[in-house]
Order: sequence, then C-alpha cells, then structure tokens
Amino acid sequence: MSTNTNNNSLYNVDDLQHIANELFKALPNEFPKEISLSPDHNDHPKATKVVETLLSAGNLEEFTPNTSLQNPTTAYPSHSPVSGFGVSPSVGSYANTGVTDLLPTDLDTVFPNDKKFNINNPNTGFSDVNLKRGNDSNAFSSFNLNDNYLPFQTQGSSFESELKEALTSVNTVFGIQSALVTNPTEIQSSYYFLEDNPFAFDKKSQLPALGHKNSFHEFNQLESAPFDANLIKKDFPILREKVNGKPLIWFDNAATTQKPKSVIDRIAYFYEHENSNIHRAAHELAARASDAYEAAREKVKTFLNAGSINEIVFVRGATEGINLIAQSWGENNLSVGDEIVVSNLEHHANIVPWKRLADKKGLKLRIIPVDDDGQILLDEYAKLLNSKTKIVAFTQVSNALGTVTPAKKMVEMAQAVGARVLLDGAQSVSHMKVDVQDLNADWLVFSGHKIFGPTGIGVLYGKEDLLNGMQPYQSGGNMIQDVTFEEIKYHKAPNRFEAGTGNIADAIGLGAAIDYVTKIGINAIGQYEHFLLEYATKLLKEIPGVRLIGTAANKASVLSFNLQGYSNDEVGQALNKEGIAVRTGHHCAQPILRRLGVETTVRPSLAFYNTTQDVDKFIETLWELKKVRF
Ligand code: ALA
Repeated sequence: MSTNTNNNSLYNVDDLQHIANELFKALPNEFPKEISLSPDHNDHPKATKVVETLLSAGNLEEFTPNTSLQNPTTAYPSHSPVSGFGVSPSVGSYANTGVTDLLPTDLDTVFPNDKKFNINNPNTGFSDVNLKRGNDSNAFSSFNLNDNYLPFQTQGSSFESELKEALTSVNTVFGIQSALVTNPTEIQSSYYFLEDNPFAFDKKSQLPALGHKNSFHEFNQLESAPFDANLIKKDFPILREKVNGKPLIWFDNAATTQKPKSVIDRIAYFYEHENSNIHRAAHELAARASDAYEAAREKVKTFLNAGSINEIVFVRGATEGINLIAQSWGENNLSVGDEIVVSNLEHHANIVPWKRLADKKGLKLRIIPVDDDGQILLDEYAKLLNSKTKIVAFTQVSNALGTVTPAKKMVEMAQAVGARVLLDGAQSVSHMKVDVQDLNADWLVFSGHKIFGPTGIGVLYGKEDLLNGMQPYQSGGNMIQDVTFEEIKYHKAPNRFEAGTGNIADAIGLGAAIDYVTKIGINAIGQYEHFLLEYATKLLKEIPGVRLIGTAANKASVLSFNLQGYSNDEVGQALNKEGIAVRTGHHCAQPILRRLGVETTVRPSLAFYNTTQDVDKFIETLWELKKVRF
C-alpha cells in the first residue's frame, strides 16, 4: 500500500481504497473482495459506490492533520453526528458505525505518523459555532452546521438501502452493531446464546407480547432513522470502563448521567481557548467567553421553547433553582395563612425549602396524595386548591418511582385559583419534550448533570415579567446596574439572578449537552426509552419475589423495586459485581417511599445509551440471586 503522498496532506485515494478493501474482505461471499478506484477496473458497482461516496462525501480537507495537537483523539475534527443516526461522511467518525471494527486496529500501517487517529476513541462531538473561535481553530474548523450526516440518505437513492442491507449482513455475521442496522429487533444479546439458561426466552417472540404500541418493531417503524443505542454508547467514553472486570452498565441515570465526548471536549476547549470572566472586559477572551456563555443560554431557551433568553437563568442545579424561588418569590409574596401545595412524589429538594419557609412564615404546606401505583390523585388535588393557595410546586417525573405527572393539567388547575406553579424538571428534560410555553408553568428548574451535561450548573426558567418583579436571591457583582451607598439598581433577569462569577465553563458544557440531545431528537429518545422501560419492566416482573415500587401507567426511566430475601444493599452489591451501577436507598424522596410502604428501594434508571443487552444482564443477575436464596 502506498503512504500518504498528497501534497495537501490529504488522505489519498490509495489509503481509502485500502480501508475499503479491508471492509470488503470481511464481507460475506456474495460481496466483492477487492475493489479499485481505477476506471480501468470493472468492479462490483455496489462496492465502488461505497468508496466513491466516501470520497465525495468525505470533504477530505477536513482531515488535514493538526500537528500542534498532541492528543490523537482530538487531532481530528469533531464532525460526526449522533452515531445512531447515520454515517458521518468522515473517516474518523465512520469508525463509529462499527464498520471500521473490521479494520486493522493498528492504524499506523494505514495512516502513519501525523495521520494517526484513535480508532477506539473517535471524536464524536457536535458542531458548536463557538468552537470555531481561537487561534488553534484548525482542529475544529470543519464544522458545518448544515452537514448531512448520512450522505446517502439525502440523495433518496436506493443505494442507501443497499448499503444498509449489506452492512446488516456484515453485522449479523460478525455480531457487530452498525448505525445502519435497519431492524433493531435483530440485535442479539449474549444472554440468548445460553441455551441451557433456565429462564431463556425468545426475545423476538416476546416483543409483540409487550402489549403496547411501542414495541421495538413498531418503534422502528415510527422512526425515520434507525436508533442504535449501541452506537450512541460509543460517544460516551466512560461507558468503555470496566467495573470488576465487566463492562460498565450505567443504570444510575436518575442520580446523574454520563457525558458524551462532545461535552467533555467542549469544556476542555473553553479552558484552552476561551477562558475569561464574562461581560466585564474589552479583551478578546472576554468576548469569546461571553459569546459562548450566552450561546449556551440561547440553546437552553430553544430547547425549552422559552419566549426569550431573558427567561433563562443559570443556577447551580434544580435544588438551587427551587431555593431561589422560595427565598426570592416566596419570602416576599407569602404571608401567614397562605398555602403551599406540593405532591407526595417530591424529591426532598422540592419539600425542604417549602417546609422551612412555611415554618418561618406561618404558612400551610399541603400535600397532593397519590394512589398505590404512585399516581397523582387529581380529584384530591382539586380539593386542595382554593384562594389561599399561592404556589403549587411539583415534579414532572418522580425520581424515586418514575411516575410522569399530568403536569399541564395540574398547572391549569393551579392557575385557575390564581396560584403560581413551579415545575421540577430535573427528571423529565432528558426523557421527554418539555415545552415551557405549552406547559405554561411560571417557573421550571432542571440540573445540567441529569441531561448529559456537567455538575454544578442548572437552569431556572421563569416568565420574564415575573422574574423582573422578583427580588434578587443573592447579591453582589454582575447583577447590578448601578451602585451607590444610597441606592442600588438591579439588572433585569437573567443577570439579576446571576450574582458573582457563575459557572461559565459548565454552562457552555450544558449547551453542548443540549446540542447532543437535540441532534438525537428528544422525541426519538423518549420513544426508545419507553420501549426499553417496558422491556425491562416485563422481565423484572417475571422474577419471583420482585416487588415493583411505582407502577404508574405513565412512567419514565425508573424501575424501583425490592427483591424478597435480599436487602437492597445486597442486590446493589451483586449488581455492582457484574459492573451494573444502580442506586439503592431512599433516593432523597422518603415521603413517597413511605407512602408505598418501604424505606428504601433498588433503583435502576435508564437512559438512551442503555440497551436491551444491558437490561438482559441486569435481569440475569437477579435471576442468579434468586437461584441462591428464595
Ligand atoms: N436526585 C438524585 C437522585 O434521584 C440525586 O438520585
């Protein structure tokens, strides 16, 4: 094979041909074993088309190496999309399709010296206009917000389906999952290869029995693009960790989510190229940092469909957002005899600030009850509402049970008696579309780290007029318009509530996380997770001695349970031995667990990078426990 001789330091045709040939060697017999791009050769048309497409769509300029970057994993542009949604035209991200798993792992022979990239750790970040800035912007200069991520797809050609078919065959033969797999029901879990497994069953035949419209098959028909969680997983470096020698299965998403490489890279990029305080200086880096920070605010605004960026306040997390409302609005607008309504489902963060305020000011805290499944009793809720009700604060998804509350209806009911509404979106924004204009709550809070962003950053959304009428929560720099010793004028929202130097880098990291989620599509995420939750629920219920805690008809992500014969800690430890991370305990939601008769549970909680194989491993481990102790 020839080496890279292109004067422009581009990958040359020979290199690409070599890669393609490695691929075709691995194809089943009906596919060609060798191709050439030479017009003299009469190659298999399908194979030639693959390489032509790689060449034409690859925009090879993007692969000009940036030798100033030492880390091979970042030496190539973050270009690829969410890998489950198609093949990026770049070779670097093509690795994500699984196709390059067929290639030699030592790519030194393919791309010697300066052409190296780490095939096992492709950079899969998303475009972010702010990344184009900075002197060293070469590494990121390839971003094109208008890229088509599956070059074949937009052409509407039959080639796309041919390629999918071809790669699906390869995947079946080699057990590799590809972004182009069209039928996710073909995904096999190793669990099902254990023929003597006493609790084995045929997954395919079980799917229709799920009895809900979103079986994986139907789910796949609903979606225009295939959703491949196995590939999405590859965007999350930590999911390659081994725990106790086993691949990590992260089922603790309600506590915190893992971060895609694009988020990690974005934060590093900030500190390498943009770090400055914001809004306060005339120099270049202050402008870069301010732009990036405000761009993140804009992303949050779009994500929530807020009316204005002035409605988006960066806070430390959902907890701080709730405390802000209690201290600022609550402190100044509530007086003796007023009533605060919260639900029985609430996390401590949405109970304790209200209870403290009620105790301090002589307010009444009233609780919306739930039924035995953990569902809000709307009739009882209606009975609590009256002219003394000044605020209703409740969660959109319960962190302990997964119950999805009828939020829009509940907001309407509260506002009908003139109450303000605070919605806790900490457990909802990563699982479903949250449209603040549609929900019409007065405030909504969420935490960045639960939506694949960093810790220490979160969002308070509030209606603009309402925010501007509220007193500041904390005070100091950044939130004032003018200060004399006689008088202080405050900025309007959002600055009014962002006293001091905020968490600039992590706000920008949150923006990158929102980009990532948006690229996948929050509705696709919701549908996939719905399937996964139903799949896991069905299997979990089949295990003797499992008691599911929280059986609402409408749930997201969470499966709380107890296993007869075992303490919750024992179950958690047994799962940990298999590399499966779940939370055990009271989940900072003691009232709801006590309402359902328990103090603690084992709580797996799912995200879109979890797979049916992950669920199978989890179920298998529980069955193993049941074999030992009944
Ligand atoms: N609120 C987080 C949880 O539910 C910490 O685990």
